[in-house]
Amino acid sequence: MNIQMKNQINSATNLLRKIQLMKLSALALVTVAILVNVAQAQPGPGRGQGFRGGRGMQGNGQGNGQVAEQHDNRHDADREVFQFLLSNHDKIKRTVTDLPNGVATLTESDTPEIAAKIQEHVEWMADRIKTASPIRMRDPLFAEIFKHTDKIKMQHEDTDKGVRVTETSDDPYVAKLIQAHAKVVSGFVERGFAEAMKNHPVPDTKSATPAISKPANPVIPKHGSVVRLPDAAHQPRQGTKILIDVTRGSEPAELNAAIEKVAKYLNIYAGGGAEPAKGQFAVVFHGDATLAVLNDDAYSAKFHTKGNPNLDLLHQLHERGVELFVCGQTLISKDAKPEEVAVFVDTAVSALTVVVNLQADGYAHVPIGK
Ligand code: HEM
Repeated sequence: MNIQMKNQINSATNLLRKIQLMKLSALALVTVAILVNVAQAQPGPGRGQGFRGGRGMQGNGQGNGQVAEQHDNRHDADREVFQFLLSNHDKIKRTVTDLPNGVATLTESDTPEIAAKIQEHVEWMADRIKTASPIRMRDPLFAEIFKHTDKIKMQHEDTDKGVRVTETSDDPYVAKLIQAHAKVVSGFVERGFAEAMKNHPVPDTKSATPAISKPANPVIPKHGSVVRLPDAAHQPRQGTKILIDVTRGSEPAELNAAIEKVAKYLNIYAGGGAEPAKGQFAVVFHGDATLAVLNDDAYSAKFHTKGNPNLDLLHQLHERGVELFVCGQTLISKDAKPEEVAVFVDTAVSALTVVVNLQADGYAHVPIGK
């Protein structure tokens, strides 16, 4: 065997060894993953068998006070227990005593199966408090409770028919939250699903939800007023590009309601969310909306009106940087000419080309039709 062959055999053997090592490492990783899963699937303190999953993901905070809930591995199992308790709420008795720093509660049922579920529920909820694993985060009161789990002390003991709980906090605000929550639980017991469908407000304190603002017109005065919703979902994003595709017609002597809508869209981006968001807006008029962009003289001649009732608002939109286009094809088919269009509106080859070109430039297409 020459040296070259020996070298080739050596490198082949080395390669085989490496592959074997890699296989072993992969096997080790899989084993660790299985062990972690098994560990997580262990039931909570003092629980027997029959529970699914352990805790995995935790809910996380989002901007603007909104808190999203990511479902952890216990979520479905907990939900099944809530549903069971809510369906059987009329067979549950509960008393709540307010303490200076929290509550003492007794929740029981004469039906052993229900009593066991109450115990199971409280066991897992105590675990959620201890480990700050939130649930029902869409409900403001629950979201607030889970922000303060580190300040909640929860003791519970099983009785023959249910559970006795003492929940307290050294922080007076958190004690108030605990009391408010205990009232909600009593509501669940009294009314079942009817109560569970409701949102529950945070008690009237430092972090109470602010009242909804009065409608306002941040950028386009007198048109398209909006309310400010700083904590709502889908806040306006900086740099949004919107193409509003208007085909809705109107009575000739009245302002076209679609143009009012465009004003509203601008106001939403300027003041409907937590922060103003700069956007780029374009509007294309075609179909029944085409002639809304004629100058005063051409419009009056066509519709026997005193001027064009849309021009003032269209001009305001233009002043705010909105690009205005009209479909050239429709314009001419309606016996009007590009020269008759208001000076701040551009005649495009067609609405089609505006839509296609601006969509290619990243604009979202928002039609306002009939
Ligand atoms: C009839 C139905 C229900 C009963 C009898 C019940 C019972 C209880 C009891 C006895 C406690 C201990 C605290 C206290 O006594 O105030 C508790 C805590 C808790 N429950 Fe329920 N519950 C019910 C429904 C629900 C539902 C539908 C949810 C959520 C979707 C829920 C979520 C919680 C949470 C998160 C806690 C721990 C938070 C805390 O105690 O501060 N419960 N529940």
